[in-house]
Amino acid sequence: MQIQHNISLLPHNTFGIDVTANIIASYNSEEDLANAVKTCFHALAKPLLHIGEGSNLLFTKDFPGTVLLSKIVYVEKLSQSGRQVIVRAGSGMNMDDFIAHAISKGWYGLENLSKIPGQVGASAVQNIGAYGVEVGNCIHAVNCISLSDGSNKTFTHDECEFSYRHSIFKSREYKGKYAITSVDYCLNMDFNPNLDYAGIRQQISSAGIDAQHISAKELREIIIQIRDSKLPDPKVLGNAGSFFMNPIVDRLTFERLTTTYPNIPKYELSDNLVKIPAAWLIEQSGWKGRSHGRAAVHHIQPLVLVNTGGATGNEICELSDMVRDSVFAKFGISIKPEVNFI
Ligand code: EPU
Repeated sequence: MQIQHNISLLPHNTFGIDVTANIIASYNSEEDLANAVKTCFHALAKPLLHIGEGSNLLFTKDFPGTVLLSKIVYVEKLSQSGRQVIVRAGSGMNMDDFIAHAISKGWYGLENLSKIPGQVGASAVQNIGAYGVEVGNCIHAVNCISLSDGSNKTFTHDECEFSYRHSIFKSREYKGKYAITSVDYCLNMDFNPNLDYAGIRQQISSAGIDAQHISAKELREIIIQIRDSKLPDPKVLGNAGSFFMNPIVDRLTFERLTTTYPNIPKYELSDNLVKIPAAWLIEQSGWKGRSHGRAAVHHIQPLVLVNTGGATGNEICELSDMVRDSVFAKFGISIKPEVNFI
């Protein structure tokens, strides 16, 4: 395990917040981590915080404890049954590199998640999703090391309890207890494109591609084009993707809202539940493109808060509180951050 003291976290968070960590500890393999937990973890500054690429968190102050980083990067085909493969990827691998690799090998299912920032391990914790696909649907198992005794534990798909931007690893009982070392995906050797999310078919036809015969590589490019047109590049403008989750309301609440706002957009979830795009609620509340100090609500996708240069975590927190309060005052709906505040 590699240990560094008093290190800037600037390269480790996509919001571009300049704070330091007391210790950064990185491990190269499952054995390396298990060994360290058994022999030297007691000496590390607490609390422990495992991060990926820091693409879904907001540091509000210097971190007094130890930041853990996985440097485990590999892909291995474990098995094949019929036209399905089980493929293992190391938790420190960049998720988009894994998706590109999977497509090149003819293992399909993750195309719609192309270019989401972050690593394989963190994407399982967060159950990342985009364009009608959630990663949890393709996860077969998640392999971990216990941070209390260094033992191995595998969580099956069902044990992961995936739901919208949620997994057991975010629950009070399990949060911070395990480090993910690898993720096993169940992927398909036949390509069944998922083109139903709004905007995909339109982009395919403007690219002059026949949707009936689109390849996985072409779909990946289309998804990347859509993302690039809507979402700011964290390397240019610090951000953590969607700052808020889209709120889920019951049908009665939704119908009450439609009497005042007949054009309110929605995603149907079930007979009783409807998801409302937070982007719409934020825009209607007058926040699209507005700033607070060096923090701003993005002018194209208001679901994203951005660091316009040198913002502190607190400036972004203040902006997020103001946005949340305005949405609540106007619609009576409470929007919750998807981003983790540290
Ligand atoms: N909208 C507005 N004003 C705007 C932009 C959007 O009113 O300025 C409304 C429109 O009605 C639009 C709707 O918001 O149809 C939805 O917008 P979009 O599909 O672009 O995004 P979303 O549903 O709000 C979710 C994910 C994104 C993911 C996209 C695409 C969440 C919190 N966010 O956003 O995930 O890329 O769908 O699938 O679920 C992320 O998690 O970091 C992320 C970017």
